[in-house]
Amino acid sequence: MTNIPAAILGTGRYLPARVVPNEEFTATLDTSDEWIRSRTGIGERRYASSSDTTATMGAAAGHEALRAAGLEPAQIDMIVCATVTPDLMCPSTANLIQAYLHCRVIPAFDVSAACSGFVYATSVAEQFVRTGTAKHVLVVGSEVLSRAIDFSDRNTCILFGDGAGAVVLGAATTPSQGIRRIRLYADGSRQELIQVPSRVTPNPPPGTAVLPNLKYLRMNGREVFKFAVTTLKEMIHQAQADCTELGITLKLIVPHQVNVRIIDAALEGLNLSPEQVIVNLDRYGNTSAASVPIALDEAVRSGRCGPGETLLLVAFGGGLTWSSALVTL
Ligand code: ACO
Repeated sequence: MTNIPAAILGTGRYLPARVVPNEEFTATLDTSDEWIRSRTGIGERRYASSSDTTATMGAAAGHEALRAAGLEPAQIDMIVCATVTPDLMCPSTANLIQAYLHCRVIPAFDVSAACSGFVYATSVAEQFVRTGTAKHVLVVGSEVLSRAIDFSDRNTCILFGDGAGAVVLGAATTPSQGIRRIRLYADGSRQELIQVPSRVTPNPPPGTAVLPNLKYLRMNGREVFKFAVTTLKEMIHQAQADCTELGITLKLIVPHQVNVRIIDAALEGLNLSPEQVIVNLDRYGNTSAASVPIALDEAVRSGRCGPGETLLLVAFGGGLTWSSALVTL
């Protein structure tokens, strides 16, 4: 069996055109721009138009990633899409993206791990590249959370936005390039802290820890906040240890974007400067599985991280799940 490290060959993103500033919530909710900015760091987010879907946005981001990699859709051997807001339960969003991009007959499937989903999907794709089973894999994170939130719940609706990000993975050209370490975790015993209901089983059987009257995304913000700070800090600390072991320098952290206070608290005492962390939640809010690949694409295209430099993708969310990937570009 071959053992080829998987490298990021190209990145892309798609953000819907409609900008929704904090002020839009103040007409119907007891909230303010000042509260949202100071408690989360979010200033605005994007919402999908009626013609945007999880799959169309994912395909648009995938198209950009393919262009950046210098590849045609026919050269893609697999599509893995991370989402908690699929257009349909069947076919998968990856299937729909495959059709939109006019790819060949190839494997295409979804991965569900909430905000950690993109790193989970990358981990799956990486195994196919490393073993030589697939030459090029398109990995997508895409969400339309604006269709899953309760606009009468000020605790949640102000946090989320829509968008998509993508990467193309392929064989690294040197042993020191590509995905160096991936870590995935889940703890289903804390499943009730964040939930997005299914339309298929609106009343789950007894014994399932589903919150009462679950019609929209629900979250225990305070508990998730504590979990997020602790796990983010641990994963960055672990990555620093991995870098020391591998003899490499960590150039940039690309964390899941949800609340700037979570990022600031996690960084405390870790000897990192603000320039080493990508933050775009002020413009996009929390786009769940799309958040990390959107931030990654911005980091790459703006030159914050380039060839030979190492970055950490790190995410946490519903499940509970958390995950990280140390990648040298
Ligand atoms: N405007 C005004 N007041 C508000 C708002 C709002 N939009 N939202 C909550 N409040 C109020 C609350 O009702 C509460 O009022 P009370 O004291 O009278 O009860 C007060 O503000 C404080 O509430 P907290 O929940 O303690 O506020 P906190 O500072 O923790 O901020 C937030 C809430 C932003 C949700 C924060 O807890 C958070 O970011 N949590 C983590 C979210 C996260 O990481 N999610 C993970 C990914 S999601 C996924 O996987 C799909």
